[in-house]
Amino acid sequence: MHNNSLPQHLAIIMDGNGRWAARQGQPRGLGHRAGRKALREIVEHVSGLGIPILTVFAFSSENWQRPTAEVQLLLELFKRALNREVRELHTNNIGIRFIGDRSRFSTKLQNKMREAELLTANNDSLQLNIAVNYGGRWDITQAARQLALKVATGELQPEQIDEAAFSKEISLADGTAPDLLIRTGGEQRISNFLLWQLAYCEIYFTDTLWPDFNAENLNLALLEYSRRQRRFGSTPLQAAERAQSV
Ligand code: IPE
Ligand code: IPE
Ligand code: MG
Repeated sequence: MHNNSLPQHLAIIMDGNGRWAARQGQPRGLGHRAGRKALREIVEHVSGLGIPILTVFAFSSENWQRPTAEVQLLLELFKRALNREVRELHTNNIGIRFIGDRSRFSTKLQNKMREAELLTANNDSLQLNIAVNYGGRWDITQAARQLALKVATGELQPEQIDEAAFSKEISLADGTAPDLLIRTGGEQRISNFLLWQLAYCEIYFTDTLWPDFNAENLNLALLEYSRRQRRFGSTPLQAAERAQSV
């Protein structure tokens, strides 16, 4: 595969853990544990392929609605991952960043997140963004609030609020927007993931449940991506000409 046909930023909605467990007559928690393992394998593969940015949806702002026991378990697994996996990611030169509203997490958890980010801040083999308590509408709202604050302090004029100014306040502002979004688990929706950032993203849906999603499945998605023609509003001919010139 040519390097320029690889996405520079891959985003994944890791869905289907609960159904994966239910199929085996097991509690949903087992699926979440298996999902963590799947993520490890995918991170390794993505890093090996040389894709520079990976953003994964781990917990949405709506997932708090789940039964308390399941939310507790997800938080526990998150804590465990922070305690056990950060060092290895650091050794592999992977930078970790969290996006989402952290204020709902305990101070201890927030500190662990901050520590992981600081420890890995200068790593550059892969940028791993983990969306926790993330919602696309929250993201757009918080960006609007930042802009309003700047207007209130006189730092910015209302006329200066354009797409570029807005893009600076939204999560992942310093990277490129995702080129490819993969959603596992068979549902064909965005579920309040990156709304602003996905405007021109290619989307790939697969029925494979997240715990079963492996390097081979990822390669299939990447192959499909390499065959897509991204036009960004232009004609097929213009898009083909542009693709040739890069
Ligand atoms: C994704 O799997 C993990 C989270 C949303 C935290 P689900 O838990 O949504 O699994 P299904 O969709 O119910 O199978
Ligand atoms: C989306 O999955 C969120 C994550 C994968 C973290 P959900 O399972 O929460 O999405 P819906 O409820 O099916 O839309
Ligand atoms: Mg789900």
